Amino acid sequence: MAIERTLSMIKPDAVAAGNQWAILEHFRESGLNVVAIKRIHLTQAQAQAFYAVHAERPFYGSLVKFMTEGPIYAQLLEGENAVAHHRAVMGATNPAEAAEGTVRKLYATNIERNACHGSDSLKNAAIESAFFFSGSEIVALG
Ligand code: CMP
Repeated sequence: MAIERTLSMIKPDAVAAGNQWAILEHFRESGLNVVAIKRIHLTQAQAQAFYAVHAERPFYGSLVKFMTEGPIYAQLLEGENAVAHHRAVMGATNPAEAAEGTVRKLYATNIERNACHGSDSLKNAAIESAFFFSGSEIVALG
């Protein structure tokens, strides 16, 4: 299987609850390694831009408000089949539908306040990685 990189975010709900390190460890124990990471409080403009693909959806305004209510952690994770693997470890978008043992089943509150985000394709992983990290902030594993 190919080694890939995927953009992962731990959202304001999970950070406010102090669950960021447990979630990060969950990802790491599943075989995903951190090649870049930052703690950042998104501005409204940044959250709007990150989720621009959802601009026409009814939940967009609420999502932007949620994503700016406190700091997040953004990390670039590397591992085998990382995009699909990370999404499987996160679980379904709606925690009510997430499988037992997934991050969202363990830590999310509802479909909006769902603890984490992961890129949905290799193409979007590259776009979302560039949103948070410059080349020199990404350090390959030795
Ligand atoms: P994420 O995987 O980051 O992608 C888009 C986000 O929008 C999603 O997680 C949720 O936080 C939010 N979202 C998706 N669907 C809904 C919905 N039906 N109602 C409210 N928020 C949603």
